Amino acid sequence: PTTRVFNFTISEIQAAPDGVIRPLLVINGQFPGPLIRVNRGDRVLVNVTNGLVNGTTLHWHGLYQNGTNWMDGSTGITQCPIPPGKSFLYNFTVENQYGTYWYHSHYGTQYNDGLVGPFIVHAPEEAAIQKSYDFDQVILLQDWYHDFSTGLLDEYLASGNENAEPIPDNGLIQGTNYFNCSSYDSDSGYTCQDNSTRAAFNLTKDKRYRFRLINTGAFAEFQFSIDNHTLSVIEADSTLIEPVTVHRLPIHIAQRYSVIFTANQTASNYWLRAQMTTDCFSSDNPVLDADITALITYTNTTTAPTDSTDWTDALLLECKDLNTTLLVPAEAEPAPSQDTTYVINVSFQIGNYALDKAYINSTTWTPAKTPTLNQAVAGLKAGNSTFNAAGLSSAYDTSSQFIIDIPVTQTVDLLINSLDEGAHPFHLHGHQFWIMAAGGGYFDWASYESLNKNASVGNPMRRDTMTIPAYGWTLIRFVADNPGLWALHCHISWHMESGLLMQFQTRNDIMRGWTIPGDVLALCDA
Ligand code: C2O
Repeated sequence: PTTRVFNFTISEIQAAPDGVIRPLLVINGQFPGPLIRVNRGDRVLVNVTNGLVNGTTLHWHGLYQNGTNWMDGSTGITQCPIPPGKSFLYNFTVENQYGTYWYHSHYGTQYNDGLVGPFIVHAPEEAAIQKSYDFDQVILLQDWYHDFSTGLLDEYLASGNENAEPIPDNGLIQGTNYFNCSSYDSDSGYTCQDNSTRAAFNLTKDKRYRFRLINTGAFAEFQFSIDNHTLSVIEADSTLIEPVTVHRLPIHIAQRYSVIFTANQTASNYWLRAQMTTDCFSSDNPVLDADITALITYTNTTTAPTDSTDWTDALLLECKDLNTTLLVPAEAEPAPSQDTTYVINVSFQIGNYALDKAYINSTTWTPAKTPTLNQAVAGLKAGNSTFNAAGLSSAYDTSSQFIIDIPVTQTVDLLINSLDEGAHPFHLHGHQFWIMAAGGGYFDWASYESLNKNASVGNPMRRDTMTIPAYGWTLIRFVADNPGLWALHCHISWHMESGLLMQFQTRNDIMRGWTIPGDVLALCDA
């Protein structure tokens, strides 16, 4: 194992990823952020210097952080934000996992203003799959807004805007895209430079490429395709799967997929497309028809392709993941049978003063001022009656924190019911889960026992982010063995910030003995 050191200075600049100038948050001047590439077992040190006027954090999406919950980067859960002008050292070891991950700010909607980057972990088990490609390329896809996220969020949360999420103005591939400036007139308030470019990926004929796709956006699902090139999907989130052949691949917020294809075509270049699934927008929203494309080129030409044909397969009509039954992990890991079952209901409710908030059961989340981890450890240590079973202060506001306490290692079934008209890409921190079953309407409890029996011998898909369909349900299972406070939330930024987040507290028997490092606690003194 090696120690890998990264120095990240975060700052705000004026930039025009698609030609429209706006404030952009960058890491070492870069957008998207620098690639972090490590081997399993490595110690990773990321020294973050916050040059912003607001706090910030970085979250390592998909990493387990086993034994280092305080390095998870979740504001109000595992840490206070890094104050403006201050530095903080993220220091953790990447154990027991490899594949495609990413990192992003976990402070409000801040990641949507630029603080995203890829995080790749290698391991010897990749040797076999590596024989099936010659080049490994990371590609970030994201929806894009021409306004800073905080203003958009305020508008979204204002009374009367129920369910009208901000609609992206464009989409970016590798942090860039074309935008037609003539769609803004001179009094629009935007400065648009008509010189924006699309990303271009150079190919060598007959070589095989692995593209690692990451949706780092705020809201929109993409359907990814490359004209005239058939894709073989081999990884979903960080799980290697039996190859699945597709023309179009749906990829929702925070999900990752790897595809392999062969550069076996004869024209000089082709379109690579990321088309938004407009069904994911609610009926109150106008439909975005942006042209989100990049080029793959055999001859280093960036002129518009003349021999490139979009697949005739219909675009996905529903806002859904690739059918989970198609995803079969290459390395079987049967789900153990469950010890305990929880049901949560996801809804949007118009609460007091007509503010539209998202609820999990009866709680709508707002980040705690003292992170729930800090509270829990202090409470567990004190072991006195002012702390409830979860170790949290009994003075704790349960209208804004919903925490399920799993005190010892257990296999947890979680049925997530969505009572909402939109689809929600849910992410669980610190764990992978098995997707046991999913459907529309209501879960049929009569099927539960058989499901349980079959799954324990089967090989259900495991990942860390999946989409709950509109008015549907998904049953996930995970082994709660990773000590700490772990968020489960909708990864659509607007929804998380309207409260669509809950937490699991696991292994409080271990947490009781923890001492949170002083530099982590000190972040809360600012
Ligand atoms: Cu990608 Cu809670 O995060």
